[in-house]
Amino acid sequence: MVLLGGAGDLALRMLLPSLYFLELDRLLPHDLRIIGVARADHDAASYKALVREQLGKRATVEEAVWNRLAARLDYVPANITSEEDTKKLAERIGAHGTLVIFFSLSPSLYGPACQALQAAGLTGPNTRLILEKPLGRDLESSKATNAAVAAVVDESQVFRIDHYLGKETVQNLTALRFANVLFEPLWDRNTIDHVQITIAETEKVGDRWPYYDEYGALRDMVQNHMLQLLCLVAMEAPSGFDPDAVRDEKVKVLRSLRPFTKETVAHDTVRGQYVAGVVEGGARAGYVEEVGKPTKTETFVAMKVAIDNWRWDGVPFFLRTGKNLPDRRTQIVVQFKPLPHNIFGPATDGELCANRLVIDLQPDEDISLTIMNKRPGLSDEGMRLQSLPLSLSFGQTGGRRRIAYEKLFVDAFRGDRTLFVRRDEVEQAWRFIDGVSAAWEEASIEPAHYAAGTWGPQSAQGLISPGGRAWKA
Ligand code: BG6
Repeated sequence: MVLLGGAGDLALRMLLPSLYFLELDRLLPHDLRIIGVARADHDAASYKALVREQLGKRATVEEAVWNRLAARLDYVPANITSEEDTKKLAERIGAHGTLVIFFSLSPSLYGPACQALQAAGLTGPNTRLILEKPLGRDLESSKATNAAVAAVVDESQVFRIDHYLGKETVQNLTALRFANVLFEPLWDRNTIDHVQITIAETEKVGDRWPYYDEYGALRDMVQNHMLQLLCLVAMEAPSGFDPDAVRDEKVKVLRSLRPFTKETVAHDTVRGQYVAGVVEGGARAGYVEEVGKPTKTETFVAMKVAIDNWRWDGVPFFLRTGKNLPDRRTQIVVQFKPLPHNIFGPATDGELCANRLVIDLQPDEDISLTIMNKRPGLSDEGMRLQSLPLSLSFGQTGGRRRIAYEKLFVDAFRGDRTLFVRRDEVEQAWRFIDGVSAAWEEASIEPAHYAAGTWGPQSAQGLISPGGRAWKA
């Protein structure tokens, strides 16, 4: 395995710790070698020292496990767009079986890196390329990147990462829907009122602004993680849990998303940017102060998305995501419709709640379904009702919480692309997102301010409230 960008932030914070944990659980292929590649001037020993130091910040390192991982590690200083350097890398790799190359680079380097890898003979049929997001900034740049990749390897060799697909509960969503007979007959416009998907972060943008300011919340979060979650909730049952069957169904959902227009975008989307406020008891600067110059990039997005197909006609999907929000929370709420008629009499009108399925991904992993039941005990007022959650809390089922990349690495080593994003999927998602940003531009929609530590601009409440709906508290 070659980690391009091997001395960068993602590699040191996520990728190498994931490999360490896989080593701990003896889930790495026994003959795996790992070569970090970056421009930084390390040798193998100083690279290992760097990795060891960073690992210590994330985990209590077991020496025996570290020694096994360190024995696999090597480092090649190289500019990956230079054919000469890449040839040196090829010499270091030598004869090899499956070669997994992880691109943790600026996406502008993907094309040139592919060419250099090809020139060095590293893009044969045994090569798999793992590509980290962002894959483009819009449809056009995404197509250009995908074309540069397709020029050197076949699509079956490409593993596009959306790390949300590696999260345990995201996979569990598929199990919940398609390994139980209970939900599928209810999973449509007849029984579901609406769906909410929230990815709320307490983190500020901070030092990441040079990247973030180019992308904003729409491109950074909605284009990938949020649309992936939406697809998994909304897709039809695939014929099997295999890469093409699953991804075919996700693409159909993306194709059914109703595009926003100049007319609908003001009403059905909210764009926000944080100003100074307080998060988790600490003062936070405004986004403009972090960037140090005026900027119109959004740090919050909410939208009401319509899916134009038979299953979801008339069922809104409300999405919201933002930085510097009051809570770290990733959650999907499937709100069922109210009962058509209450047989228990007016005294229980206020007690009857429509069923709700809540899928928590972060910070805790939990799936819970609210069920109405009789309030226990005797009452001289007749039957009284209460709602209680039926809950599957994964926190209690034991085990360390895995980094999403661990699962994705295991799949990439096995050659299973089910949890990776296919080219047409990523491009279809960009088509939808380009429509949103074009509509914002046409309708001159600029971000509304929200204080750090609040749930976005006021209009985010107004987006969902018609019909008596509300974001789940
Ligand atoms: C990344 C985004 O893809 O996902 C970040 O670029 C965001 O801005 C992160 O913070 C969120 O991931 P997670 O796993 O922490 O929810």
